[in-house]
Amino acid sequence: MPTPKYHAIASDLSQTILTGQLAAGDKLPPHRVLAKRLGVTTGTVSRAYASLERRGLATARVGDGTYVRHLNAATNQDGSTNANAPIDLAYNVAVPNDESVALLGVFDQLRQDPNRLAELLLYQPETGVKRHRMIGADWLRTFGTSGDWNRVMVTHGAQHALAGVLRTIARPGDTLLTESLTYPGLLSLARSLRLQVIGVAMDDEGLQPDALDRAAQTFQGKLLFCSPTLHNPTTSTMSSARREAIAAVVQRRNLLLMEDVVHAAVLANPPPAISTLLPNHSFLMASMSKVFAPGLRVGFLEASPAWLDKVAASIRADCWMVAPLMPEIATQWLANGEAQRLIGLQRAHIAERQQLAHRILSGLGYRWRPDHPHLWLPLPEIWTSSSFAAALRQVGVLVRTADQFVAGRTPAPRAIRISLNSAGTLDQLTQGLTKVLALLASRDSGTLPH
Ligand SMILES: Cc1ncc(COP(=O)(O)O)c(C=O)c1O
Repeated sequence: MPTPKYHAIASDLSQTILTGQLAAGDKLPPHRVLAKRLGVTTGTVSRAYASLERRGLATARVGDGTYVRHLNAATNQDGSTNANAPIDLAYNVAVPNDESVALLGVFDQLRQDPNRLAELLLYQPETGVKRHRMIGADWLRTFGTSGDWNRVMVTHGAQHALAGVLRTIARPGDTLLTESLTYPGLLSLARSLRLQVIGVAMDDEGLQPDALDRAAQTFQGKLLFCSPTLHNPTTSTMSSARREAIAAVVQRRNLLLMEDVVHAAVLANPPPAISTLLPNHSFLMASMSKVFAPGLRVGFLEASPAWLDKVAASIRADCWMVAPLMPEIATQWLANGEAQRLIGLQRAHIAERQQLAHRILSGLGYRWRPDHPHLWLPLPEIWTSSSFAAALRQVGVLVRTADQFVAGRTPAPRAIRISLNSAGTLDQLTQGLTKVLALLASRDSGTLPH
């Protein structure tokens, strides 16, 4: 039997909502307008909207229209707890720890040092305060880098570094090579800069050197974005042989490497960055977001001083410089050992949540790595990643679909990403994972357990 028209329209719209192309609070087109646009009756559109409401994706306001619902509203607008809020296994965050207490410690310290406080309120060089760069460079040595502060600048997180670098080295129409599944923040940046994104085949270790070599040749690519350690979303991590092979292709094809070690920052001993093999052809981007507070917006970018000057010019055009108070907080924590303590606590949270996940989901063949809060879960053939996420959403659980990470025209695999850190409590995490298991167990996608 052919799929009813309203059903197809509702599926398209739910996909648009679940992939974030329509945001919470956005108004859907009036029934008559959409009906005209799609060449269907207003009754068909009404049935499609009603179906979205049943799935919890939209809400109709009488006399006003239909709006996209908040997908992870844990609190109501008046601040009260929403008992019906979905369990969030989607958001990619660190588990909050003692950051607010540690923050008060920094403020106490600054209160006793008015000169330093005054300095932080002044304009600073675009590359950042020298003291912050020195501490950042020292921390980046965890990834095998030189520790030379001249090669390091401060950014407002890795996304800011990525934007500064891409605006410096890419022009509209340029080809950007990356893993076939990649960080969505890169995809939105590439869209805004009108770059052509080419997804390169991956295996269990991540980016494949042969495929990279072919893609660089075929598409005349000059830029490569790559996360060799704890790749988002697949968790894959390269061996040292793979890193060397990728570095060799970068050199042979004269590529510029943008290496993301944002998730690797949680590891006590991360593998050496590929960038260490390519000191003049790489940009290494690290951040504090996944190890303690993303709201600090602190990241460090390492590259050759000549490249850093160019990126700094782009940042100057944006906002003059990074606000110095934020790196002051992060670098005080790095210098006095607080950062290492917070990162240790983060690893303990992740280990606890991983154990819980293993108890509930063991045998499902998902990919995971120690010290990493993501699971990459392949799905049986009756599901696509978005139909599974939509069905999970119906039973009150949010996850990320493979489609959200797809680079270029690569087909989306049947898989979802589960973030273990975003559920507020272990009890919520247990409930969420149990619902994932129950949905997988209900072989018939038509009968959904609640
Ligand atoms: C792989 C990867 N890179 C970069 C970022 C952005 O990090 P930041 O908060 O430092 O901008 C994220 C955030 O989700 C990420 O997953």
